[in-house]
Amino acid sequence: MKKDFLTLRDYDSDTLKKLVQLAIKMKKERLTFGRDILKNKTVALIFEKSSTRTRVSFEVGVYDMGGYPLFLSKNDIQLGRGETIEDTARTLSRYVDMIMIRTFEHSKVEKLAKYSSVPVINGLTDDFHPCQVMADIMTVYEKFGTYDLKLAYVGDGNNMAHSLMIGCSKFGIDFSIATPKGYEPKFEVLNYAMDVARKNGKTIHFNNDPYEAVRGADIIYTDVWTSMGQEAENEIRLKAFQGYQVDMELLKATGKKTYFMHCLPAHRGEEVSDDVIESEFSIVFDEAENRLHAQKAIMAYLIKNGEFGGLL
Ligand code: CP
Ligand code: NVA
Repeated sequence: MKKDFLTLRDYDSDTLKKLVQLAIKMKKERLTFGRDILKNKTVALIFEKSSTRTRVSFEVGVYDMGGYPLFLSKNDIQLGRGETIEDTARTLSRYVDMIMIRTFEHSKVEKLAKYSSVPVINGLTDDFHPCQVMADIMTVYEKFGTYDLKLAYVGDGNNMAHSLMIGCSKFGIDFSIATPKGYEPKFEVLNYAMDVARKNGKTIHFNNDPYEAVRGADIIYTDVWTSMGQEAENEIRLKAFQGYQVDMELLKATGKKTYFMHCLPAHRGEEVSDDVIESEFSIVFDEAENRLHAQKAIMAYLIKNGEFGGLL
């Protein structure tokens, strides 16, 4: 059975921790380890939304492991002209060894995975961004050397919030989130993460007060107020999110040294102030760098049908 990487929900804590270990090894031994894991293999990278980090880190990651990446923007393939995702999946499966897709509805990624005979990786949907969170948690582990931490998320209850809360619950990181009313994460995701966190002896808190959420946090995370596909709501969102900017006052309100994280791209002056993202506490480019290593670990694991044999 081929394995996919669609959401962190599909993975147990032990496997996710091993993937982080593998990502750290990929990073440390970049020039010598895993150079032929994708030898003679091709990976299709489908983008229905813009990207800098995801596109470049996947292309470089495939190249690093000896494979050939195919960048397929929606404007270039028939998917953009109405060919179905089912037909796209079955066609691409006849040519390539793995598919990464960035798209809108999460159900589209699920359908692609269902109809594809090769592994499918979610490179961001409206609901989830699991590759980003693997890179983020790898970054946190590099900084602290433990998962026994608290991460506070301030802002929109969006794809990043969803994947972060699932990721934190699986890795045993306490998680709290503050969103404006009406912009809460999906309750089904929240309930799932709360359940996993409880089993791991950890907590997930949510409310509408950023100062309450960040108390005691080791990390404050935020993301844009208007995600890709929501551009028409920009003005309403700008108003709704007033008071939710991560600025120096909020960063200092944790009562301890706190790192600032953001998946990027950032809208400075909206969800984060310039001085915070430029400060010594900001680790946003470490996160961006780790996309490469985390995704190489994911691709290596998937191409070996979900086995770590010979990798760790
Ligand atoms: N964080 C992230 O996914 O960035 P891109 O949109 O540039 O890929
Ligand atoms: N929430 C953002 C994340 C970008 C990496 C978006 O979906 O646009």
